[in-house]
Amino acid sequence: MEKTTRQATARHYLMCPPTHFDVTYSINPWMDPGKPADRSIAVDQWQRIHDQLVGLGHAVDIVPPLEGLPDMVFAANGATVYGDRALVARFRFPERDAESAEYLDWFAAKGLKVRQATLPNEGEGDYLAAGPWLLAGNGFRTDRRSHVESEEYFGRPVVGLTLVNDKFYHLDTALAVLDDRTIMYYPGAFTPGSQAILRELFPTAIRAGYEDAEAFGLNAVSDGKHVLMPEGAAGLTAQLRDAGFETFGMDVSELLLAGGGVKCCTLELHDQSAIW
Ligand code: ARG
Repeated sequence: MEKTTRQATARHYLMCPPTHFDVTYSINPWMDPGKPADRSIAVDQWQRIHDQLVGLGHAVDIVPPLEGLPDMVFAANGATVYGDRALVARFRFPERDAESAEYLDWFAAKGLKVRQATLPNEGEGDYLAAGPWLLAGNGFRTDRRSHVESEEYFGRPVVGLTLVNDKFYHLDTALAVLDDRTIMYYPGAFTPGSQAILRELFPTAIRAGYEDAEAFGLNAVSDGKHVLMPEGAAGLTAQLRDAGFETFGMDVSELLLAGGGVKCCTLELHDQSAIW
């Protein structure tokens, strides 16, 4: 890709501190309850992501963590938010079910129109806004039929993408939106049909190799110029820099024990303050 001057825009994120973080069950191949996670290290890693976003001038709100919900740090899954509407998650597994009530209350208190998805729908883990589209993953967590509900609720065209490798069980583990027109993704995480859709819609996308995807390099947050991503995805970092992005490698070793990285910890509120 040609070196381009990239433009950052102010963003609004919601995060949840890993106060009760742990790996006590396994709902993705990264999680092994036999491997203890160090909560204090997770808190430190989370704080650095938070502080880096604030340091870049972005607004970060906090949703209070609840005891007994060790995955609540992965705020991306709480909802999809666009304009004045939030569609709160319906989690695939009962272990995370109780998180939804907290998000329903939080968005209602902020004055957003809010409701809970009627079918499994794991929020921004599987729904990523890119330009006019809402890219929507399915295959492991979000039910394909929930795409219709999101399309109707937000009035934005949904592009369904099917994931095939359970290591990349959420869309945001295999694809990141860098700006309205630019994405990066690991083709091997998708069915051939979904790969063809991505090639057609994003011919200039950055394509990641397996090693960088496995290092969770695609679980990244971008403001159009600055990209926060798990450190260790060396090839992808170089590709991003060549394309004019400024990268920030974050240590997410503890969060990875639960199958999460930088993006999983952040729910971008594409709300009115950010859009207008
Ligand atoms: N342990 C969590 C789960 O399996 C990790 C969620 C990661 N979040 C994400 N947006 N990819 O649900």
